[in-house]
Formats: sequence, C-alpha cells, structure tokens
Amino acid sequence: MAPTEKYVLVAGGAGYIGSHTALELLLAGYKVVVVDNLCNSSEEAVRRVGELAGCDVPFYAIDLRDKEALDAVFAKYDIDAVLHFAGLKAVGESTKLPLEYYDSNVGGSIALLKTMAKHAVPKIVFSSSATVYGDVTRFENMIPIPEECPTGATSPYGHTKLIIEDILRDAATADSNLKVAILRYFNPIGAHPSGRIGEDPLGVPNNLLPYIAQVAIGRRARLQVFGDDYVGSPDGTPLRDYLHVVDLAKGHLAALAKLDSVASTVPGEGYMREWNLGSGKGSTVFQIIHAFEAATGKTIPYDIVGRRAGDVLNLTAKATRANKELNWAVTLSIEDACRDLWHWTTMNPYGYGKQPE
Ligand code: NAD
Ligand code: UFG
Repeated sequence: MAPTEKYVLVAGGAGYIGSHTALELLLAGYKVVVVDNLCNSSEEAVRRVGELAGCDVPFYAIDLRDKEALDAVFAKYDIDAVLHFAGLKAVGESTKLPLEYYDSNVGGSIALLKTMAKHAVPKIVFSSSATVYGDVTRFENMIPIPEECPTGATSPYGHTKLIIEDILRDAATADSNLKVAILRYFNPIGAHPSGRIGEDPLGVPNNLLPYIAQVAIGRRARLQVFGDDYVGSPDGTPLRDYLHVVDLAKGHLAALAKLDSVASTVPGEGYMREWNLGSGKGSTVFQIIHAFEAATGKTIPYDIVGRRAGDVLNLTAKATRANKELNWAVTLSIEDACRDLWHWTTMNPYGYGKQPE
C-alpha cells in the first residue's frame, strides 16, 4: 500500500513488535493510529515512536473487546488497513490461564474483525507465530520449516494463534473485499538502533535475549540454560531462528504492499496467505550467549538446568516464500541485534519504567 491519506490502525502498537512497526510505517509516510489496552506495555513507547518519527501518534488505551470504544476509533479515522499485534503471548502463562488467553486473543480478534467489516476496512496483517508448527521433528525433513508444514500447536497460546488463523481464513472466504496476511514470526530480538524503543518485559523475562540483557546490566545474577542434552543440536542446546525486530517490522510493510498488489483468484472470495518471517538460519542458545558477549564485551554467567517444558529442538524458518513473494529478507545480523539490545538496555536499564525503590 502506498502511503495515503488513510490510516493504518496498529492494534497492540504500544508493545514490542507493534511499536517498532508503527515507527517504520511512520518513517515510510503512513499515517498511524494506535490502540492498546496497555496490559503488557507502556504508553511511553508510543510517545517515543512519535518523537523518533517527528509527529504525534494518536493513541487510544482500549481493549479490543470493548466494541463501543473500538467502533469510535474506526468512526473517527479513515482506516485502510489493520496490523493486529494485540494479544497475550507468554506460552507458560497460557497453560495456567487458558481462558484469559482465549478470551483476549480470540475474543479480541473477533471484535476487531467485526468492527473492520462494519467499517469496510479491507486489509489485515496478523501476528501469528512459529509456535503453530509445534515440534516439527515429528516429521522427517521438515527443517527449515516451510509454510506447508502441518500445524500442531502445543499450548493454549499456540491454539489461539491457530484458531485466529482459521477465523481469518473463513472471514476471507466469506468476504470478497477482505485481504489477509498471516505472518508467522520466528524469534524477534534486539531493539531500535536509537536506543529509544525496545522490549520491556514485565517481571522475570521469559525469553532468552531479555534475560541475558538483564544479567548483563546486573538486574539478575545468572542465566539458566534450559538443557544442553538435545540430540540433533551441534552443542546440545535448542536451535531458534532469531531475527532483528526492525527487519521483522519492515516485513509488515512488505505484507501491506503485497496485499495492495494481489487480487483473489477465487470468484466471490477474499484473499489470504501465510508467510514465515525468519532469517532461515538456526542458532543455539550457546551461540546466542557468545554473540551477545562478543557484541557487548560483557560476560554472561550461566548454569545449565533441566529442559523447560514445551521447548522443542529446532524452530528454523524456511523463509523463501517471503523472500520471493514479499520481496523481503533479513538485512541485520544477530550481532546487530545484540548491539542494539545492549544500547537500549544501557540507556533504559529499567525499560520504560523507573528503577524500583
Ligand atoms: P507485546 O506484549 O509487547 O505486545 C502486545 C500488545 O498487545 C501489548 O502492548 C498489550 O498491551 C496489547 N494487548 C494485549 N491484549 C490486548 C487486548 N485484548 N486489547 C488491546 N491490546 C491488547 O508482544 P510482542 O512481542 O510485541 O508481540 C506482538 C504479537 O506478535 C503478539 O500477538 C504475539 O503473540 C506475536 N508474536 C510475538 C513473538 C515474540 O517472540 N515476541 C513471536 C511470535 C509471535
Ligand atoms: N532459554 C534459556 N533460558 C532462558 C530463556 C530461554 O535457555 O532463560 C532458551 C529456551 O530454552 C529456548 C531458547 O532459549 O531454547 C529461546 O527461548 P525463548 O523463550 O526466547 O523463545 P521461544 O522459541 O521459546 O519462544 C519465542 C516466543 C514464542 C514464539 C516462538 C517462535 O516466546 O511466542 O519464539 O519461535 F512462538
């Protein structure tokens, strides 16, 4: 989509990936309105996005399930596309609070789609996840993982992503005006090179890089490495496909451009397609620790502990579909991401918040 007078609504735009994407949209000339219930984020992120882009970003602190409030935003702005980041995302927490996950993720998505339909908004890009593939070692020769890989999520969080993908597929089948891009992210890491926006996890970080950064800055003593006995890994630790969050953000602009250029091939139906967004390269936990140490000069003390429930050996993307069809590929390295994460961390040791008393 060429930037127009119309708006892109970024749902979940105060969060980690949404804030970086809102910035890339603004820098490319799009007009952006952000909605977010701030359950896992800070309005300060949106303010800083505006500061970096040199403009004020309209922001509404609303929950997607609040239909009246959402409707009022759609009534106020001429919206041409929605980027849908809003949802709960912690795999472990989802096993404890499954109903919260279904309610927020699935309920929020349905409310959003109904409001889009009411206001005839024709395009949506949805944040799905590599977690929809589950443990792909159940198949032979499925790594790197292509989009055709059968799905098989293993947590309530993953199930919500699959259900939302199904809902989007059905909605696109029923509505010839609707175009849907499903982006299955692998492991986004890093921060904006300015050091002004980045990931700000609440409480103990679940994810590897934020945890490493908090060890390096002295907020936590040691990293726990969850298992070094994975057969099929060069050093026994699991492989993931890490990509810089700015590359991931740019993937959304590529998806919007794609939705603008495609037409449904089935009469009477809309358009929907899935793309993996990853680098195509797997890295082990030890390789990431060493990359961070090399990029920052810090030493990360760690202990090897037991495996984390639900972890799988290898989630590495086959990214050729996005490379060819979206004309998108990663441009930044893991070293770039580690350097930018460290810059963000040293400039904001307590994220967007203040140091606790
Ligand atoms: P995040 O938690 O930083 O951002 C999500 C945002 O959505 C938060 O700001 C939160 O406050 C908001 N939100 C949650 N529920 C809401 C609701 N019902 N109504 C309105 N706002 C709501 O997470 P992120 O890492 O930026 O992830 C963005 C999206 O990408 C999520 O959907 C996530 O599942 C998906 N994803 C993330 C990763 C990852 O590793 N970070 C990987 C794959 C997929
Ligand atoms: N790890 C540790 N110690 C930690 C944290 C993580 O050893 O303190 C290891 C994990 O065992 C795993 C690797 O680091 O081997 C990456 O773990 P993350 O938690 O950073 O990422 P995951 O791959 O488990 O999950 C993330 C998102 C999911 C998404 C998935 C896609 O949290 O939502 O990437 O690949 F689906």
